[in-house]
Parts: sequence; structure tokens; C-alpha cells
Amino acid sequence: MPGCLVVSGIQWGDEGKGKVTDILSRSADLVVRFQGGANAGHTVVVGDRKVVLHQVPSGALNPAATCVIGPAGVLDPETLLKEMDDLAAAGVSLGPDRLFISHATHLVLPYHKTLDALRERARGESRIGTTGRGIGPAYEDMASRAGIRFADLFDTARLARRMDGVLTERNAIIKHLGGQPLDRAAMVDACIEWGRKLQPFVRDTAAVVHAALSSGRRVLFESAQGTLLDLLHGTYPYVTSSLTAGPAAFPLTGVGIPRDPLVIGIMKAYSTRVGAGPFPTEDEGDVGTWLRDKGSEYGSTTGRPRRCGFLDLPLLRYAVRTCGIGALAVLKLDVLSGLAKLPVCVAYDLRGRRHDVPHPDMLADPALKPIYEEWDGWAEDVAGIADPAALPSAARDYVRRIEAGVGVPAILLSTGSDRSHTILVRDPWA
Ligand code: GDP
Ligand code: IMO
Ligand code: MG
Repeated sequence: MPGCLVVSGIQWGDEGKGKVTDILSRSADLVVRFQGGANAGHTVVVGDRKVVLHQVPSGALNPAATCVIGPAGVLDPETLLKEMDDLAAAGVSLGPDRLFISHATHLVLPYHKTLDALRERARGESRIGTTGRGIGPAYEDMASRAGIRFADLFDTARLARRMDGVLTERNAIIKHLGGQPLDRAAMVDACIEWGRKLQPFVRDTAAVVHAALSSGRRVLFESAQGTLLDLLHGTYPYVTSSLTAGPAAFPLTGVGIPRDPLVIGIMKAYSTRVGAGPFPTEDEGDVGTWLRDKGSEYGSTTGRPRRCGFLDLPLLRYAVRTCGIGALAVLKLDVLSGLAKLPVCVAYDLRGRRHDVPHPDMLADPALKPIYEEWDGWAEDVAGIADPAALPSAARDYVRRIEAGVGVPAILLSTGSDRSHTILVRDPWA
């Protein structure tokens, strides 16, 4: 009976982590976002209410769950305050009694967003296709030890000193890239104002999460992005700037390894990617268009159309190995209804050699060829099905073949965006 679950995206993001986190957080005491920032867009749908969470954990709609943002995320205070206002308007109350932010969390400030845009422009054809949320530049400041953290907002002299150091250098780069330098005094004033509003939420979150784990309370860690966007283990350089793989939750939160954690791999029944970078099973033909239209595959954060393609078992095996996945959640099965045959990539061929678990670095090689099998599809509409017996046998077989192909059982199947459109095969808390 695990007291600790990790929700981990195992493709290129947007797998449905928000939906699964919402469902599992109904029985959680704490829900922890441990990396990333406003580049994430996690959708939760309950009846006619739909919210997209960017920085706040997707446990927000369950009033008994305390939401925690750990020190390895990068938080944009301006958009966080707006997100909290939007949630309040949607009837979700997130006071300082149930939203905790680490004092050590680094801030995403306007110069990070300016730099993100200018860098992308300078990259030209080889741009990454970032979300423009300032994520890369903010993590650069963290690594170069120049960043501004929440704790700095509450010591004006230290804030001004640190801002001097970082902004002088950042403004020089902004000018070099053809941008408009930012005013230091205005930036410090804005930070002080954001700090005033957010101070009541600031805590030593590592101590809070550690205490919860030690006393046997249920802690759910929610990753953002997906394994193939991981800074170290993804399709570098077409990745985000943080460690997204589920087990990073523990060192990044600062709690050591809990006893018996279960890392749940969240996947769609097909593949999507938003932004640039290799995607060997992408389909730019009819099936890709079908998936984009029927699956509403447009970015939850930027609205960009997502690139769509066939299921990729070799990359799922890679993500399962990288993250130590012990259970799967397979989403968007309803989108496949009506496709008579489903091509599924079961391995790769690279110059005559078969690869069942490729390294992402191989994917950009033009000689790499997906090896496809055709699996049977199903005609029946499965949208909204919550009873496993009501699933057509071809859909059940599709899931069984995924389980066999990656060696992990599926504990949750999803047939629609609503919380209720879910088959919970096994409760992972039980
Ligand atoms: P996340 O970033 O991993 O949380 O995923 P996103 O929220 O960015 O994208 C997933 C999208 O698929 C959202 O619009 C969800 O509402 C929607 N969704 C989730 N599960 C299902 C499902 O089983 N079927 C359908 N049709 N949509 C789903
Ligand atoms: P969620 O949590 C899908 C992608 C961007 C780009 C690359 C780098 O909703 O699954 P960044 O702005 O992070 O520097 O962009 O990563 N990306 C995502 N793609 N879902 C996400 O988050 C993403 N967050 C970043 O499109 O290719
Ligand atoms: Mg998303």
C-alpha cells in the first residue's frame, strides 16, 4: 500500500497528467508540483467546469488536498497571482492554508521571458519551439547561481543587490540580441509588490512534505512535461530545462526516497508533440489530422496545434526504464474509435540492427526507421465509458498489447476529458 505516488508523463507532455492527478488527489493529503513552471498546462474537467492549471498542482479542485510547489520549479509570480484569481473566480479557494510555496523556489521574471523570445528568434530554423514562458533562462540563472528566489523578495537590500548583479548581465545579452533592456528599479518594485502578496504562502516545503511522508500521510507528486522532454534523458536539445522524469521528484523536493513509492506512467493511446524536434512516428497525413481534430490536439498553454502520430512502444519502453514506471494510465482511447487499423511502432531499425529500446539521441538519425505492426481498431464509440465490460474487445486487446509491449499493467483507462470518463482498474493507493 504505497503512501506515495508519482504521476509521470512518459511521452512528450500533454499525456493527461492533470486529469489523472485530479482523480488520484481525491485520496491524497498533499499534491506536490516539483519542477517546471508556467510552460505546463494541465487540464481538469469536472462536469461543465474546465480549468487549466499551469503552476498550481492539479489537486486544487479537491478541497481536502494541500497543494505544494517545491524548490525546483520556476515560478512566475505575476501569472501565478492571475492563476489564483482565475481559480477563485471558478470557485476554487486556495488560501495560504492549502497552497504552500517553497522559499527556495526561483522566480521567472520579465527579463527571462524577453530572453526566451529573443533566443528563439536568434535560433531561426533551429528554434526549439519553446512555450515562451521564460523557463530556459530562469533555469540558467538557477544553475549559474544568479537567480532570484522567493526568500529574496522579503529582504529589500538583498533583492536590490542580487537584481543589480543579474540584470546588468541579462540586459547586456538582451541588447546584444536586439531587445529592449529592462529597468532595474521598476523590476525591484514589482518584485516587492509580488512578494507582499505571496509571502503568506511561503514555507519550508521540504520539511512539510518530509513530515507528511514520515507520518504516513498520502503524498502525490505531479510531474510536468514528459520523459522525452527531460533535460538529461529527452531528445536534447529539443527538451525543456528541467528534470521531468518521475523519480526526480524526491531529490528535487528534498525529501529522500520514500518507502515503496509507485511511479505511474501517464500516456496517450497515440503520440503527440508540440514544438520542434524528432518525432519518428509522426503522421502528417490523414491519421495525424484525424487525431488532431478528434483529440482536440492544441496546446493547453499556447494553443499551438500539436503534431500527432502513431503509438511508439520503443520510446515508451525507454521512458518506463528511465522512470521506473510500475503502472500505466492510458488516456484518450475514445479518440481512436473509428480507425479500422492502428499502425503501432514496435521497434526501430537502424542500418539493419533492431532496437527495442532506443536512446533518444538516435531519433534524429535519418536512417532510423520505425518497424510497424497493424493492430485492429474498433468502430464503436467508447466516449465516456466508465465500465470496463462496456469496452469493445478490440479496445481491450489494444490496451493488453500495450501492457505486454512495455511490460507494465494499466491501472487507469480514460475515455473522455471529464473526471467521470474513467475506468479505474485498480486503485493505486489501495
Ligand atoms: P497534461 O499536460 O498532461 O495535463 O495534458 P493536457 O491537459 O495538456 O492535455 C490533455 C488534453 O486531453 C486535455 O484537453 C484533457 O481535457 C484531454 N483529455 C484527457 N483525457 C482524455 C480522454 O481520455 N479523452 C479525450 N478525448 N480527452 C482527454
Ligand atoms: P505539460 O506539463 C508539452 C515543450 C515546448 C518545447 C520544449 C521547450 O502540459 O505536459 P520550454 O518552454 O519548456 O522551454 O519549451 O518543451 N513543452 C511542452 N510540451 N507539454 C508541456 O507541458 C510542455 N512544456 C514544455 O513545446 O518543445
Ligand atoms: Mg499540457
